Amino acid sequence: MNAPAKPMMEAEALRHIRQPLPHDSGLKHVQGSAQYIDDIREPDGTLHVAVGQSPKARGRLVSLDVSAVRAVPGVVAVLTASDIPGKNDVSPAFGDDPLFVDTDISFLGQALFAVVATSRDVARRAVKKAVMEIDAETPSITVEDALERGETVLPDYAYGRGDPDAAIAQAPLKLAGRFRVGGQEHFYLEGQIALAVPGEDGDIHVYSSTQHPTEVQHVVARVLDIPDAYVTCETRRMGGGFGGKESQATQWAVTAALAARATGRPCKLRLDRDDDFVLTGKRHDFRCDWTVGFDGDGRMQGYAVDLLARCGYSADLSSGVVDRAMFHADNAYWMPAVRIASKRLKTNTVSNTAFRGFGGPQGMLAIEHVMDRIAWATGRDPLDVRYANLYRETENVTPYGMEVEETDTLLNLVRTLEQTSNYRARREEIAAFNASSPIMKRGLALTPVKFGISFTLTHMNQAGALVHVYQDGSVHLNHGGTEMGQGLYVKVAQVVAEEFGIALERVRITATTTAKVPNTSPTAASSGSDLNGMAARVAAGAIKRRMIAHAAEAYGVPEDQIAFRDDRVFVGNQSLSFDELAKKCIAARVPLSEAGHYKTPKITWNRDKGTGRPFFYFAYGAACSEVIVDTLTGENRLLRADILHDVGRSLNPAIDIGQIEGGFVQGMGWLTTEELVFSREGHLLTHAPSTYKIPVASDVPAEFNVALFPNENREETIYRSKAVGEPPIMLANSVFCALADAVHAIDPSRPVPLDAPATPEAILRACEALRGRPMG
Ligand code: MTE
Ligand code: MOS
Repeated sequence: MNAPAKPMMEAEALRHIRQPLPHDSGLKHVQGSAQYIDDIREPDGTLHVAVGQSPKARGRLVSLDVSAVRAVPGVVAVLTASDIPGKNDVSPAFGDDPLFVDTDISFLGQALFAVVATSRDVARRAVKKAVMEIDAETPSITVEDALERGETVLPDYAYGRGDPDAAIAQAPLKLAGRFRVGGQEHFYLEGQIALAVPGEDGDIHVYSSTQHPTEVQHVVARVLDIPDAYVTCETRRMGGGFGGKESQATQWAVTAALAARATGRPCKLRLDRDDDFVLTGKRHDFRCDWTVGFDGDGRMQGYAVDLLARCGYSADLSSGVVDRAMFHADNAYWMPAVRIASKRLKTNTVSNTAFRGFGGPQGMLAIEHVMDRIAWATGRDPLDVRYANLYRETENVTPYGMEVEETDTLLNLVRTLEQTSNYRARREEIAAFNASSPIMKRGLALTPVKFGISFTLTHMNQAGALVHVYQDGSVHLNHGGTEMGQGLYVKVAQVVAEEFGIALERVRITATTTAKVPNTSPTAASSGSDLNGMAARVAAGAIKRRMIAHAAEAYGVPEDQIAFRDDRVFVGNQSLSFDELAKKCIAARVPLSEAGHYKTPKITWNRDKGTGRPFFYFAYGAACSEVIVDTLTGENRLLRADILHDVGRSLNPAIDIGQIEGGFVQGMGWLTTEELVFSREGHLLTHAPSTYKIPVASDVPAEFNVALFPNENREETIYRSKAVGEPPIMLANSVFCALADAVHAIDPSRPVPLDAPATPEAILRACEALRGRPMG
C-alpha cells in the first residue's frame, strides 16, 4: 500500500481548476464556426488529390499504366512510387507501410498512386482510368488464415507467473473456451484530411487532422527527403480522432505534401467517407483462447490466455496495442498463476491501429467473459464471482509484476456502485420478471475497470509547452497536445490561468504546431492533460518566478509576500494589475516567455523480462447496466446505466463527465451494433453508415446516472487528477455482460454462446442455441 496521500497542496481556493467549465470551442462546435481543415479558406490555385486503390488484396503489381489518367482534362500530376524523392515509407516505426505500392500488394484498397487535379471531383473520376495488371494470390483474411500460413507482423510475446497449467490441472473446477472480440471503425465525424502549402526554398506547411503532428512532420521530411526543419505541421483541432489519427493521419498528409512538392501549389486531400473506411485501420479484433481453473467460490487459481490479434498487413502500432491488451488481460482480478500470450497476426486487410483503449478493451472483455463463465458454472451471482477475484491488499501484483497500490479504491468504488445502483434488489426483481416472462428477458451486470495510465513505450511519456506573457497581460499558450474534442485545450488553459491567477479569457489557446513545441508524442494513451498540463505549468511557473523576483526587487518586498490572484499581483500590502507587472518586467528586460518540459516519473518497464512498472498509476471505474432482450428477434435496449468513475480530483468535472458518457456510449456501439465484415476476397462490406451502425442519441439509456468517485491521485499528477480519455470505453463491458445475462435466463444450466459484438443477430443465434435449435 502507498503511504496515505498527502493533503492537497492547494489550501487556498482554486479559481479555475475543478470548475465545470465548458469546452473552449463548445459554442463554435454547435454554431458551425469552429474551423476544421476543410473550412480553411483555400489558397489561390489549390489542387485536390485522390488516391488510386488496389482492387486486389494480395499479389504483385505487374504493371501500372496511368497515361489515361494523365490525359483527363484538369489532371495536373499523377504520382506513383517512382515519384517519391525520399523513402517510400509512412510507417510509424517498422518501415513496412509504403506510401504507394511498389510491387507487393498487401490489402484491398492499398494506395497505388495519387492524382492531383483542379477539383476533387476530377481527381476522383480520373483515378478510375488507370490500367493495371496484378498477379493476384489468395489473401489471408481471418485470424485462422494467418495462423495457417504462420504469418505475423511482429514476433510472439508472452509473460506470466508461476505454473498456470499445473494450477489449472489441480483446481477443483476448470473451463476452457474461445472468445472472439470484434474490431471497430473510428467513425470520427471529420474524416482524414490534410492541406499542404509549399513555401520558400522547399519549405512546406502541412495542416493535418492528426493526433501526432511531430510524426507527420518527420514522415513528410523522410518521404520528401528534406530536413525536418523545413516542415511544419499545424493542427488546430480534429473532429474526432479516437486513435484513428495517431499514426494513420500521416499517409494522407504525406500524399498532400508530395503533391504540393510536385506541383508547387497548395494541395488538399480529403478522403471520401467510404474510402476512409476502406483505407484506414480499425480497432484490432481478437480471438482469445482461454483456460481457467477455480474453486467452488469462483476464485481463480490459474488462468492462461492466448490473445490472437488480427493486425492487418503491417505492424503499425500493433506492438503497443497488443501489449496493452496483455496488460489488461487481468482487468481488476488477481491471478495467482497466469500466462498471458499473444500473436500479432498478419492478414491482407487494412492495418489495424490505435482505438480508444489501445487493445485494453479487448483483453479486458475476455476476462469479463471468463468471470461470467465461472459464475454460470458455479451458480454464483456474477458480481460475487468478481468480488471473489478482485485485487486485494495482500494479492495485488499484476501478471507483469506491477503492484496495484489502490486496491482500496477499487473495492470501495465497486461497493459504492453496488449500493447506489441498487444492484441486489434489482437482481431479485429481474429474476422474478424473467421467471414470468418467457420471451422478453432482462439482464443486469456490474463490471469494474482498472486501466493503466502512461505510454508503455517509456520515452513517449514526455511533453513540452510554450507560454508567452505579453505587455498587456494577455497570455499565449501552446503545447504539444492536440485537441480532438476531448477538452485538452481548456484543461491546459485552466492550469495556466490558475498559475498566473488571471481570468481564463486572458489565456489565448493556440493551434498545435511543430514550429512552437518540437519532438512531441502523439496525443494518446489518455495522457494529454497529465503531460501537457504539467509542461504548461512548468513554463508558466518559470515566468511567474521571474515576475516575482522582479517585483521583490523593485518593491523591496520578500518573495514569499508576493501573490498572484484575481488578475492582480499582491506585493506586500500594495497591489498592481497583472499587466502592469508584465509591462514593468519588459521595461526591466525580464523575459516573459518560457518553454516547459515534463517527463513522467517512476515508470520502468523491461519488456524482455516481462516485468516492471509500465504505468504511473491506474484509473478505476465501474458500471452497472440493465438491458431487455426480445429473445425471439434479438432486439434489445439498454434500460439503465449507472456509472461511478475515478478521475482522481477532476480538473474539470463537466469535461470529465462528457468523456465518461461519450466513452461509455462509444464502447456500447463497439459491443452491440458495430460490426466489420470482410469478404473472402478482402472487400470491406461494411464501409458506410448504411451497413455500419454506430450508436445514436436514442441509444442512450433513459436512466443514465454518471458520478465521479471522490478520490485523489496518490501520485503527483497535475492537481492530483487522473486521465479520463480512454478508461470509460471499458465501462461498456457491463452492457455486453448484461445482454449475456438476459440470454442466460433462457436456460441457466448452460453457458451463453455469445461473442462480441452482441448484435441482434448474434443474440438471436445465442437464444436459439440455448433453446436447442441452433441456427447454424
Ligand atoms: N474524446 C473526443 N471527444 N474525441 C476523441 O477523438 N479520443 C479519445 C479520448 N477522448 C477522443 C476523445 C482517445 S483515443 C484518447 S487517447 C484521449 O481522448 C486523448 O486525449 P487526452 O489524452 O487528452 O485524454
Ligand atoms: Mo487513444 S487510442 O490512445 O489515441
